[in-house]
Amino acid sequence: MTLFGKDPRLLVRQAEPFNGGPGPDALLSSFVTPNELFFVRNHGAVPEVDPAAWRLTVDGLVENPLSLSLADLQRFPRRSAAATLQCAGNRRMEMMAVAPIPNELPWGTEAISNAEWSGVCLRDVLAAAGPRAGALHAAFTGLDETERHGHRFHFGGSIPLEKAMRPEVLLADTMNGAPLPAVHGAPARVVVPGYIGARSVKWISRITLQEEPSDNYFQAKAYRLFPASTGADNVDWEAGMMLGESPVNAVTCSPLEGDRLPAGPVTARGWAVAGGGRRVARVDVSADGGKSWKTAELEAVGDGWTWSFWRAVIDLAPGEHEILCRAFDSAAQTQPDHPAQVWNFKGYANNAWHRVRVVCG
Ligand code: MTE
Repeated sequence: MTLFGKDPRLLVRQAEPFNGGPGPDALLSSFVTPNELFFVRNHGAVPEVDPAAWRLTVDGLVENPLSLSLADLQRFPRRSAAATLQCAGNRRMEMMAVAPIPNELPWGTEAISNAEWSGVCLRDVLAAAGPRAGALHAAFTGLDETERHGHRFHFGGSIPLEKAMRPEVLLADTMNGAPLPAVHGAPARVVVPGYIGARSVKWISRITLQEEPSDNYFQAKAYRLFPASTGADNVDWEAGMMLGESPVNAVTCSPLEGDRLPAGPVTARGWAVAGGGRRVARVDVSADGGKSWKTAELEAVGDGWTWSFWRAVIDLAPGEHEILCRAFDSAAQTQPDHPAQVWNFKGYANNAWHRVRVVCG
């Protein structure tokens, strides 16, 4: 199995295509996740891309269609920004405990990471192409191929043009100061801060401005949110809500599930993240099933595009305990208490209170 230069501590959820992420302790070891630890979500094999032959096509509802080489792209003004990416399938495993979710990756809490990206603003490139009246969505196509229901096609997705024209959305060629690694989309990828990871299309090859969202499988069918009564057998794909901004979420990374600890003060630590540019306003921790909550200290406070790290000291008597955590975002939104309340047959957007059971002796 090739690890694509990744740290052997990565929890590998699938070898081919390669999918994995850092366990809770590794996640929390650094506010900016090193490239070797950054989670990977691939729907197909990593494509071999020759940077010298690579071209980015910008077409559709534009005045001047573009075909940019890497050097052309790199002539636009550069911008660097930290952004946390999280897969919509993060924490799916907890939903799988409610009811089976076949044919999807059993992510624990590791499908999230935070990096400093550099590249150019997507809006500068779109401005050079000149969006025409009627353009409402920017559709992205990657160079990797995948197969679903007997069809082979490239990965793709779209974001509203309004979001594409915001300064935080990048075409990135650099990750944490290093050239973008192959497994993360070299030579260039889209980075859409505040949105589910699926919209940050890797190995970007085409950007099409159009009236409607992308008709790519990963926008038109997958990465949509359905009610609990919908399953593979009765799904009307059109009826699902297209996922864009991520919901507020929080996870305890330490202690770990099943840990045995001395009774007394226990320090709980973890991450919290809010979507759509909202900030994490508060994180609460409970050890009595949610009857009472202690406000955690935000020890590394992210802006609206990155996660925050938190810690709280709680007193635990001898015996078994369940440590709960939940966050509030800057729009006063918070999390549901149990994955059963947000269960859906694709297993997306689980942001239920995170629970860690420990034994104090
Ligand atoms: N882009 C392409 N071309 N192919 C993919 O499979 N996966 C998407 C997105 N972009 C994907 C892609 C998903 S679902 C996520 S969560 C992020 O990439 C993960 O980015 P990473 O692998 O750099 O962590």
